[in-house]
Amino acid sequence: MTDTPQSILTAHGVHKSFGRTVALRGAALEVQPGECVAITGPSGSGKSTLLHCLAGVLMPDSGVVTFRGTRLDALGVDERTRLRRSSFGLVLQFGQLVPELSALENVALPLMLEGRRRPDAAAAATQWLERLEVAQLAHTRPTAMSGGEAQRVAIARALVTSPDIVFADEPTGALDTVTGELALDVLVKATRETEAALVLVTHDNRVAAAAEREVVLRDGAIEAAGDGGPGEPT
Ligand SMILES: Nc1ncnc2c1ncn2[C@@H]1O[C@H](COP(=O)(O)OP(=O)(O)OP(=O)(O)O)[C@@H](O)[C@H]1O
Ligand SMILES: [Mg+2]
Repeated sequence: MTDTPQSILTAHGVHKSFGRTVALRGAALEVQPGECVAITGPSGSGKSTLLHCLAGVLMPDSGVVTFRGTRLDALGVDERTRLRRSSFGLVLQFGQLVPELSALENVALPLMLEGRRRPDAAAAATQWLERLEVAQLAHTRPTAMSGGEAQRVAIARALVTSPDIVFADEPTGALDTVTGELALDVLVKATRETEAALVLVTHDNRVAAAAEREVVLRDGAIEAAGDGGPGEPT
């Protein structure tokens, strides 16, 4: 295997199809601990699919994803769920909060699943809601929030467990410029403070610029990595 020992997350030769649609054809990525990587590329290039495969939400048709040297596909469903709960933070592109729970309960939930007592979990959740400037929504359910408010609550929920790696799919997509900057700033600062890695999927150049490294996905494979210099004329 070509695993780099210090990588926290690796993906090699990842293929994924949905029926006849090939979403990923041999995508590869390595993420170092504490690193912030942006995945960019055109709509439909496979960014969300790759992020879901990296985070163990989707299993690839072929190829290998490892976290700290352990193949995700070698874990049982329960083990994978436990790993995701303890080590991964996930901000998905669409619908992710539990509709029956308030913002506070949504953010406290991952901690309570880890066995934290309700008052502790609620206190930690409140701090994250404050940091994302949505504390006033603590007792509001997601159905009564705007898309951008729900997105900020989802970011709070992804950060509350201090995960080793945070996966965020268009985390600023539903936010205006000012709130988008706040959300991005909190994501970057919080992961830096805890030395967590951050994998960001984005269309937004400013978001990509906040990352240390950008990889471009085109037609389901990584096209280029590095400094984002001008491409060849087509
Ligand atoms: N659950 C699914 N069922 C069928 N096709 C899917 C599914 N998810 C993704 N696809 C298809 O796979 C391809 C890659 O989709 P994906 O969502 O990964 O793209 P993306 O780069 O995230 O796009 P966007 O920037 O629009 O979010 C697309 O052609 C899409 O239509
Ligand atoms: Mg997407």
